[in-house]
Amino acid sequence: MIYLTRVEHFNAAHKLYNNNWSLEKNKEVFGKCSNENWHGHNYELHVTLKGEPNPETGFVYNAKTLGDVIKQVIIEKVDHSNLNLDVDFMKGKFTSAENLAIGIWDELKPHVETETTKLHSIKLIETRNIFVEYFG
Ligand code: NI
Repeated sequence: MIYLTRVEHFNAAHKLYNNNWSLEKNKEVFGKCSNENWHGHNYELHVTLKGEPNPETGFVYNAKTLGDVIKQVIIEKVDHSNLNLDVDFMKGKFTSAENLAIGIWDELKPHVETETTKLHSIKLIETRNIFVEYFG
């Protein structure tokens, strides 16, 4: 078993805010991410597939194709968007890095898996200090 990772980037705005809480409590829990007038992050997305190298190519999956699929299925939807308002698969969810990574996994999985290659993980880096990893 070998693991192949493709890295892509996107920029997006969001806000973390719980309507059932006071402004003060939102600030306390979400900090700057609760800013009323939104704010952005430069996200880095790592998509890892696993499988055995194909005897005809030596590839687990064509890395160029993987980049194209990630761009078509995810980046087109999230790049320069408002994650709370514009992204169908985030509707009604808190736009935390955790939920975003889970949403990306669910969107991407049917597009990248084959008989022999499986999605292994989604790693989403939100800031230089914070990232999440999801293994399904
Ligand atoms: Ni934020």
